[in-house]
Amino acid sequence: MEPRISVDFGGNFWPAPVNLISVGVEKPNIFTLGIIGAPCSKPPMVTISPRPQRYSYQLLKEVGQFVINFPTADMIDEMYFCGTRSGRNVDKWEACGFTPVKGQVVDVPLIAECPVNVECLVEQEISFKHPDGREGSHVCIIGRIVHLNCHERYFIDGQLQWDLIDLIFRTRPGTWRALGPVLGYDPRKHLPDDPRLAAQRVNERTAGLASHYDPEAE
Ligand SMILES: Cc1cc2nc3c(=O)[nH]c(=O)nc-3n(C[C@H](O)[C@H](O)[C@H](O)COP(=O)(O)O)c2cc1C
Repeated sequence: MEPRISVDFGGNFWPAPVNLISVGVEKPNIFTLGIIGAPCSKPPMVTISPRPQRYSYQLLKEVGQFVINFPTADMIDEMYFCGTRSGRNVDKWEACGFTPVKGQVVDVPLIAECPVNVECLVEQEISFKHPDGREGSHVCIIGRIVHLNCHERYFIDGQLQWDLIDLIFRTRPGTWRALGPVLGYDPRKHLPDDPRLAAQRVNERTAGLASHYDPEAE
């Protein structure tokens, strides 16, 4: 049996698609978020975990709404910028060349350049404590999804096709990766009819992405 080693858990999270969260209405802002959770599908709910000292957290609390915007591989610089600079000092919309667009339900703007936008209302907040009573680093915001839209080209066979989107995954801290090849299909579900969704096509796209990625360029 493979020997197992205990790992210090703090901050050592698993790979997940990185998101840009838009918050605020009068002077909207954006911050990068590493992991969103999907705690319930019916009704559809999400979780995000901001640190309470963030400028974005103030805006979240003031407005009670947020939008999850999924950036693509060509937006790594913008994703990094929004995750390392504060909206207290810089207009991230302008700096990143992002276009704010009015949502269907919420007043917080969507990022037009992101292929998927998820409009959410803040439903609940959970805070955490260490065993000795100190406050935890992050709070958990539970959001109710009130609208989801995507760029037209990703809507195929009546569904949003996530595996056609060049999402940015964070693996090791500070390492970004593309979605990998299709490994198989669940035989209980319909195989996709549309050739754009066939495994070979998706694999070709992601292989192309990987070969264009130049770690020396960062
Ligand atoms: C990949 C990545 C993931 C991040 N995930 C989180 C997160 O889950 N929660 C959080 O509070 N900050 C997270 N951050 C940090 C914030 O995005 C960052 O502190 C940002 O500058 C806050 O902006 P603001 O001051 O305008 O609110 C992340 C940053 C990066 C680059």
